[in-house]
Amino acid sequence: MKVLRNKKTFQDYIERQKEMGKKIGFAPTMGALHDGHLSLYKQARAENDMVISSIFVNPTQFNNAEDLKKYPRDTQRDISILEKSGLVDAVYLPEVEDIYPEKAVSQSYDFDGLENEMEGKSRHGHFDGVGTVVEEFFRQVKPDNAYFGEKDYQQLAIIRKLVEKKKLPIKIIGVPIYRAENGLALSSRNQRLEESRKIASTIIYESLVKVNDWFRVVSVPEIKERIEEIFDDQKGMQLEYFMIAEEESLKETDFFYKDKNYRAFIVVVVDGVRLIDNMHLD
Ligand code: PAF
Repeated sequence: MKVLRNKKTFQDYIERQKEMGKKIGFAPTMGALHDGHLSLYKQARAENDMVISSIFVNPTQFNNAEDLKKYPRDTQRDISILEKSGLVDAVYLPEVEDIYPEKAVSQSYDFDGLENEMEGKSRHGHFDGVGTVVEEFFRQVKPDNAYFGEKDYQQLAIIRKLVEKKKLPIKIIGVPIYRAENGLALSSRNQRLEESRKIASTIIYESLVKVNDWFRVVSVPEIKERIEEIFDDQKGMQLEYFMIAEEESLKETDFFYKDKNYRAFIVVVVDGVRLIDNMHLD
C-alpha cells in the first residue's frame, strides 16, 4: 500500500492511475479506523480497479476547538489496519495546507435545506465544513465512485446534493451501517465507552427495531412518546432527539404518506458520548 503524504506526490500518483485508465473507488475518513470503515473499502474493492482512502481530521467541520483537539489521532495504527486489511491501494495523508492552501475556512453551501435539519440544528456550519473538504478531495482524487456510511445519513444526503449541484462526475454510494453483533452501530466514539455502557447502548438499536415494527401501525406522535418512555428509564443516557423523517428531504413527519420512504433518526448521549443511529423503515 502506498502512503502519500502531500498533494504533489498524491497528484503524480493519481495522474499515473488515470493514464492507465483505472477505475477509482474512494473512501475519505478522519482516521480512528474500525470495522465500519473496512466495510466501505470492501464494497469499493468489489466495484473498482483500485481503492484510495484518505485520513484527514478536517478542522472546518468541528464546532469547537476542544472537540477538534480531543479527536483521536493515531496514524500509525490506522496505517497498519489498512495494510493488514489488504483492501486499500493508497492512503492520502494531506497536511492542512494541502487542502486549504490559504486559510482553513469553509465555503458556504446551499444544500436545498438539508443542512438545516437534524444535526444542522445543533452543529452550526458543520456541513459547510464537510462540503468544503469533500469537494476538495473529490477534485484531487477524481474518483469514479465514492463511498460513505449510512450511519451519517444526513452527511450522505448532503454529499449527494453537493455532487448534483456541482455536476461532479462521481457516483456516490451509501454503505449500510456496520453493527456489532449486539446491534450497536460502529463508531470511533464507541472507543470512549466502557464495555458495560456499550452493552447498555444496544437499547438504541433495539428501539429502532421496535420503531420499524410500529411503522404504519402506530401513529408518529405515539411512537415518539414510546421512545421517550424507553429512554426515561435508562440511567446515564439522555435522548437528545428522536424523529421520523422523509428519506429524501430529511423533513420530520407527523404522518406516514403512502408513496414516501421514511427513516428513523436517533441521538443518545451515553456517559457524555454522543451516539447517533438511524434505520430505514419498511
Ligand atoms: O465522515 C467523516 O469521517 C467525515 O465527515 C468526512 C466525510 C471524512 C469528511 O471529513
